[in-house]
Amino acid sequence: MSHFKTEIMKLAETTALTNKDIAKVVGCSEKTVLKYAGSYITRTKAKTNLDDSAWEIQKTVLLPDIHHPHTDERSMEAVNRFIFDYEPDELVYMGDQISLDCISFWNRNKPLLKEGQRLMRDYDDFNKDILEVHENITRSDIRRTFMMGNHEERINTYVEKNPELEDFIDITRHLQLIERGYKIIPYNEYHRVGKLYVIHGFYYNMYHSKKTVDNFEGNVVYAHVHNPQMYTKISPVDRKGYHMATSLPCLCNIKPDYHKNAPNHWVNGFGIVEHLPATGFFNLYVITIVEGSFMYNGTYYGKNLD
Ligand SMILES: [Fe+2]
Repeated sequence: MSHFKTEIMKLAETTALTNKDIAKVVGCSEKTVLKYAGSYITRTKAKTNLDDSAWEIQKTVLLPDIHHPHTDERSMEAVNRFIFDYEPDELVYMGDQISLDCISFWNRNKPLLKEGQRLMRDYDDFNKDILEVHENITRSDIRRTFMMGNHEERINTYVEKNPELEDFIDITRHLQLIERGYKIIPYNEYHRVGKLYVIHGFYYNMYHSKKTVDNFEGNVVYAHVHNPQMYTKISPVDRKGYHMATSLPCLCNIKPDYHKNAPNHWVNGFGIVEHLPATGFFNLYVITIVEGSFMYNGTYYGKNLD
């Protein structure tokens, strides 16, 4: 019998260490740990009493900054084809999915920019062009998460000045999001996909991902800046204190009229997360879209190559 056996079995029973970690602590091979403690997954399953579905990989599509009606239509069309093929378990609208120009603070003294615009039409067109399209191309039982960004927050800002319209112009109420099964994440709050925190985003400085990871001390993915960036922070005393902030590109028009052709750093794209609910372990993939096209898992999405 291996002289490691007692120590291996004790660590397997009393800690949540993986086989690799136990091998390191004890000073033996992973094969020896497997022999006496079994596989890490079997051990964790038995300890947590989780049902088998917790061990099924969950697929999430992250949709950042759609800004309807200023959506980049070619990108959105390609992403919709991808969503159909990918069959996700969850869709997350990461905030700013609807622009709401007609109640924008920035347009308050510019009637020309608001000419002909109607809030209810904005809601109805967004519903028809985005939500209903996604409901039609996905299973009816998938999770749908609707995060409020700074553009949706325009409704609350408007109500602060016009309180008599409270509820009447509410987006959740008008689109019947709760009744349709959407999970609502209020502005500046977070959603979780395994160990990954999903937020709309706070910072707009040059090194926004560094600032985000410094302030969150966790794994975060965010939208808001329309520009992909990533920063990792590793603790010198604890290898597991390993956190990453990732900013996603956007699905809106990256050359909007109001920029008047000024250069910007906006990029089209979106995110994919695959995670294991039992452990929270995840992989995040940032997909950039160039002129409406991208590739994923050997398939080309976008403009016709013929
Ligand atoms: Fe945005």
